[in-house]
Amino acid sequence: MLAEQKIETLIEFLRDTVAEYHPLALASSFSIEDMVLTDVILSHVPQIEIFTLDTGRLPGETYDLMQHVRERYGNVVRVYTPATASLENFVNEHGPNAFYHSVELRKRCCQIRKLEPLARALAGKAGWITGLRREQSVTRQGIEAREWDELHGIYKFNPLLDWSEQDVWAYIRRFEVPYNKLHDQGYPSIGCAPCTRAVSVGEDIRAGRWWWENPESKECGLHAARLVNKD
Ligand code: ADX
Ligand code: SF4
Repeated sequence: MLAEQKIETLIEFLRDTVAEYHPLALASSFSIEDMVLTDVILSHVPQIEIFTLDTGRLPGETYDLMQHVRERYGNVVRVYTPATASLENFVNEHGPNAFYHSVELRKRCCQIRKLEPLARALAGKAGWITGLRREQSVTRQGIEAREWDELHGIYKFNPLLDWSEQDVWAYIRRFEVPYNKLHDQGYPSIGCAPCTRAVSVGEDIRAGRWWWENPESKECGLHAARLVNKD
């Protein structure tokens, strides 16, 4: 059962953070974590902005949810898309599915489809918020609530770091928050369609992301190692 206290602590954290760091924005991939944050932000801390990176390769179900969010909450999520020229060059040079050919090409695809648009989304922001949780993967166990993001030169906040998957679902059910229908089909973690697959019972929650790569390299660069704790 989701402790009331956890929700209160989250609201307080977001209020305190936006009071100190403004403008502040949530990066939403429409994951269950991002949907909890979206619902909390729009209900209690609407000064926080929300944006998404539409890579152009998201599953149809994610676009359905994006539409559903517009109907439920209004036009509240700013969409960033890849820069046309670099995407066009990359696809012409390496083909539509270059990410399967090498880790290097996979990272270049993420760079064009996510990282460059992220840099634009974060320009002028004092901080950004993510839905990262510690129990999601080996690469996320050491995350802190506030981290200095060296790459973007601003603070990054991970307010759900100690929420369990059960806590997240308890919030979604209790407040009837819309969620991605792929979760009902064995997808615990959802990114781009060609780089995401369903997992079997007992498998790691991120096992279906870039499943052909090692767990240690399975970050797209949005949450790469260039993060340090800075006081
Ligand atoms: S990823 O790096 O492997 O893609 P994951 O899907 O677990 O990340 O999402 C972790 C957090 O990164 C999300 O809660 C969200 O804050 C941010 N994020 C990931 N993908 C996107 C996206 N397409 N648009 C905006 N934010 C994103
Ligand atoms: Fe490209 Fe896959 Fe990265 Fe999406 S997740 S940007 S399709 S490599």
